[in-house]
Amino acid sequence: MAAPSQVTFACGVDGLWHVEAVERVTGAALPLAGRLAVLEGHVTSDVVAWALRGTTGHQRYTTRAEKGALGSVQPVLGRAASRCASLIPIRKSDAWWELAQDERRAIFEDASHHISASMKYLPAIARRLYHSRELGEPFDFLTWFEYAPDDASHFDDLLAMLRATEEWRYVEREVHVRLQR
Ligand code: HEM
Repeated sequence: MAAPSQVTFACGVDGLWHVEAVERVTGAALPLAGRLAVLEGHVTSDVVAWALRGTTGHQRYTTRAEKGALGSVQPVLGRAASRCASLIPIRKSDAWWELAQDERRAIFEDASHHISASMKYLPAIARRLYHSRELGEPFDFLTWFEYAPDDASHFDDLLAMLRATEEWRYVEREVHVRLQR
């Protein structure tokens, strides 16, 4: 799958992905539904349980060196072996958004090692980050991950590691939608 720059995650009765679980992590949950479709463009529909929209954007925090390092190991989406996926919508607090760019980068990487500590999970985990805040959506980010069933426990380790960081003190809503195909 070539990932679209504008995407709608539509959860209802149709779609490639079977919804295994909808786990509330922080803040309000999302309703459970049977299947999830990843649709190109910003689609509205009254037949889905919920739909979340996002857009790929330019990178805000990644340095040139980090970009090069990521580029050399990060896999494409849509690998045949990636029968598991996770959609993790996240909203950060007003306190986060009131910080200046350099303060956010310091928390994101210098204190929390978001990139350097997550890199070792590549290429097992394929990822894509969508931005939603500017669209007036309920979440600021829609994070999408694909991996093989054998790597599911490693993905859970990654989640536990990130959720213990200083960065995650600014996360006020997070839901983990676990998917299989
Ligand atoms: C698989 C390993 C991962 C790698 C290599 C990775 C890497 C990155 C990078 C490079 C960025 C910065 C993009 C930019 O410069 O704007 C980023 C942002 C982000 N990542 Fe990750 N990430 C990983 C896993 C995760 C996971 C598991 C989550 C969610 C539980 C997550 C949530 C986010 C969020 C919400 C942002 C946006 C932060 C912001 O702009 O405030 N990441 N990630």
